[in-house]
Amino acid sequence: MKEYLVDLLIIFAVLVPIYLITYILHLKGIIKRKPFYRMWNVPLAIIFILAVITSILSLLKVINKFWHVELAFIMLAIIIFHIHLYWRQFKRGF
Ligand code: HEM
Repeated sequence: MKEYLVDLLIIFAVLVPIYLITYILHLKGIIKRKPFYRMWNVPLAIIFILAVITSILSLLKVINKFWHVELAFIMLAIIIFHIHLYWRQFKRGF
């Protein structure tokens, strides 16, 4: 995990500002609700599928574990954005 820490930080340092910019544009009404939710939900679904595929290929030793880990970190960041997007519904679960 330690060797991946820099990758995790870089991914968050890139994605968090992008998310915040799109969120601010949404708050200002420049990006409507549907495209705003879609622009984060669609990549989450695609990256989840790629994370599953790369994890299997990594277990089969077809590719290096690196690819799964990088995609998984991107997924982790988008999951956090996802919880923020659906915070009201998320809170109701507790
Ligand atoms: C936020 C999501 C995820 C994160 C942060 C994550 C993180 C990681 C990390 C850091 C490793 C490497 C562990 C090591 O160095 O030994 C790993 C391996 C693995 N992950 Fe994920 N993962 C995620 C999602 C998934 C998903 C969705 C699947 C499949 C359903 C999956 C299946 C696996 C498998 C099978 C391995 C072992 C690969 C190997 O040893 O070659 N992961 N994951």
